[in-house]
Amino acid sequence: MVVSLFARLPDTVSVYEVSPRDGLQNEQATVPLRSKLRLIDALVMSGLDRIEITSFVSPKWIPQLADADEVGRHARAPDGVIFSALCPNEKGLERARAAGLREIAVFVSASETHNKKNVNKTVADTLAAFDATVGPARSTGMRVRGYVSTAWGCPFEGEVDPKRVVAIARKLIEMGCYQVSLGDTIGVGTPRQTERVLGLVLGEIAPDRIAMHMHDTRGTALANVLVGLEMGVRNFDASVGGLGGCPYAPGAAGNLATEDLVYMLHGMGIRTGIDLDRLVEAGRVAESVVGRPLPGKVHQAGVRSLKA
Ligand code: HMG
Ligand code: MG
Repeated sequence: MVVSLFARLPDTVSVYEVSPRDGLQNEQATVPLRSKLRLIDALVMSGLDRIEITSFVSPKWIPQLADADEVGRHARAPDGVIFSALCPNEKGLERARAAGLREIAVFVSASETHNKKNVNKTVADTLAAFDATVGPARSTGMRVRGYVSTAWGCPFEGEVDPKRVVAIARKLIEMGCYQVSLGDTIGVGTPRQTERVLGLVLGEIAPDRIAMHMHDTRGTALANVLVGLEMGVRNFDASVGGLGGCPYAPGAAGNLATEDLVYMLHGMGIRTGIDLDRLVEAGRVAESVVGRPLPGKVHQAGVRSLKA
């Protein structure tokens, strides 16, 4: 019997780059402003057109991104490129607006303990407080993206009920988020679990409103992406070189590397609008600005193997 795999693959996929935010928030050392701008420029040059450049969060909680105002003011988005930034509250929204951002991202976890440690509130209070950010941002023409973290598992509570993920994602869409990104914050997801989580989510929310934000901590990010692709997801978050993690999620080292994602997509005939060679260059810039080797596979091996 011939089994037909990949029957529903799309022609194009949108990649949302998170390295200047999710990557740099997790570095021990704070990267200087001009190095951040160099990284953002290199990402833009590779053809990435959606980039999360920083976070307007409390500098006491994330000192690595305390220069968000300057990053927002100095980073140059050419026509067609949208910069976004994390925004936890009204103060964050004011700062994002003053820095010229046209998109923000709000975030909440599917598990109570992670949410409390991440934003010092219950999940219900976090969702209620989005009234001060989502609506006001949209009323001045900003786009708002939403994240549901710990959707595949919580570092403190273990398993997370996927029904909680669906309920929170639905609320974010109802509030006016144009897209909800489901986060495997600690990189524990495996393909059958992904089928189960996405099966429930996509039963209630159209696939074009959903993104996947996979961490590759245990090497399963691309396998999960493949399940998402087959199930209709067309938006994927990634971080160049595999830079990143979450400071409140022990063990969450390494987002899915953008080069690994794009290498697989292009190899399967799926367009992204990204120049892979230039993306590899951006990965080298990322490595030089953080001053340590990065874990991405294509970053380490190169795009093509040497001929024998
Ligand atoms: P809090 O301490 O409960 O807040 O923190 P507060 O309202 O009591 O404020 C405390 C101080 O922070 C005050 O200053 C505020 O002015 C200041 P003080 O009076 O003490 O001098 N403050 C701010 N300053 C600048 N900008 C702001 C701001 N807000 C308050 N926006 C808060 C609550 C949410 C602010 C805090 O918990 C926080 O900033 N958390 C950020 C956590 C974070 O960024 N985590 C990482 C991102 S999430 C992630 O990585 C997961 C993701 O990648 C998806 C996935 O992988 O699953 C998205
Ligand atoms: Mg993340």
